[in-house]
Amino acid sequence: MSELRVCVSDFEKEAKRVLPKTVYDYYRSGADEQNTLADNVAAFKRWCFLPRVLRDVSTVDLSVSVLGHNLSMPICVAATAMQRMAHPDGETATARACQAMGTGMMLSSWATSTIEEVMSAMTTSPGHGGVMWMQLYIYKDRELTLSLVRRAEEAGYKALFVTVDTPYLGRRWDDMRNGFKLPSHLSMSNFQTAFLAFSEGNYDKDSGLAVYVANAIDPSICWDDITWLKKHTHLPIIVKGVLNGQDAVQALNYGVDGILVSNHGARQLDGVPATLDVLEEVVGAVQGRCDVYMDGGVRRGTDVLKALALGAKAVFLGRPVLWGLACQGEQGVTEVLELLKVELRLAMALAGCRSVSEVSRSLVRRVDFTSRM
Ligand SMILES: Cc1cc2nc3c(=O)[nH]c(=O)nc-3n(C[C@H](O)[C@H](O)[C@H](O)COP(=O)(O)O)c2cc1C
Repeated sequence: MSELRVCVSDFEKEAKRVLPKTVYDYYRSGADEQNTLADNVAAFKRWCFLPRVLRDVSTVDLSVSVLGHNLSMPICVAATAMQRMAHPDGETATARACQAMGTGMMLSSWATSTIEEVMSAMTTSPGHGGVMWMQLYIYKDRELTLSLVRRAEEAGYKALFVTVDTPYLGRRWDDMRNGFKLPSHLSMSNFQTAFLAFSEGNYDKDSGLAVYVANAIDPSICWDDITWLKKHTHLPIIVKGVLNGQDAVQALNYGVDGILVSNHGARQLDGVPATLDVLEEVVGAVQGRCDVYMDGGVRRGTDVLKALALGAKAVFLGRPVLWGLACQGEQGVTEVLELLKVELRLAMALAGCRSVSEVSRSLVRRVDFTSRM
């Protein structure tokens, strides 16, 4: 019998018990010394609430519109690769949970389920209001890249999240020590050749994924590639991995439809700030010209509320979804999403916010550490 799970870290503890070590390490790890990994979580503790009272919070509306879709809550699922290592149903289980919860799922280019089967899992599942978005890595092979875009369009995905922080893979020490690669029964299902599907290769004590990225992903991509992509698709384009105001303005100049403030779950450049710490700068630079989203270190409903107060339209969850999947497949992911939803609803009520539109900058204040000494 599994113990009662009351918070995301309970799911992580159980996931650690049930997953093979190399898989748990791959999911958990950050780059290098993992300073940013710890800071992504710690940053939320540097902000406190200034709640309002006597505001009739008998009903609290969590719904929000993201990229033209009404979602039941401002909490979505970020792209995480190779979910069938966590559970045999992998990405299809996550899609069903998102449908059940009425929220959006971003599918990784490196999924272990196909673009089409994940969409069909969502649409044939009970519930409504789920929406699929595609995360895109730009491959050296541009025809291959465009074939992913075409397939996502045809299957009914509603936006492209282009990952811009991965010209090379960050050094993740555990994966290097473990010689990380996919278990032999799995592959990156959206690719036909064994090499592109990451299902073969002798990596000799390096992270197999780092070798894969060096061989396949285009490190020369630049802003003009956003223009190139826009020429080939009518889907909205969101850049995933912006960490400062200058790049946010540049992204607007290139006509993006949204910005996801992300440091890739601290798996790329160690030493960058926690995403929460740069959110305000990006929101300030954008000045309402497009939506700004954030991911990284969101583990509690109060974290979501702090991110909303600092200007995020919605947040995305990476690892918490993998822990849910590892614990109990679709049911586990649903439980994690439901948990965050319940926590957010309570936090909003206790802060005096009846709807997401009532969450404003004045709700949070940066904790002044010096005054506490
Ligand atoms: C195991 C794992 C795999 C990931 N795979 C991808 C990926 O394929 N594409 C991508 O753009 N981001 C990927 N990310 C980054 C997530 O989309 C997201 O930015 C990050 O996980 C958010 O931080 P959190 O895990 O602290 O919630 C991955 C993250 C993890 C933990």
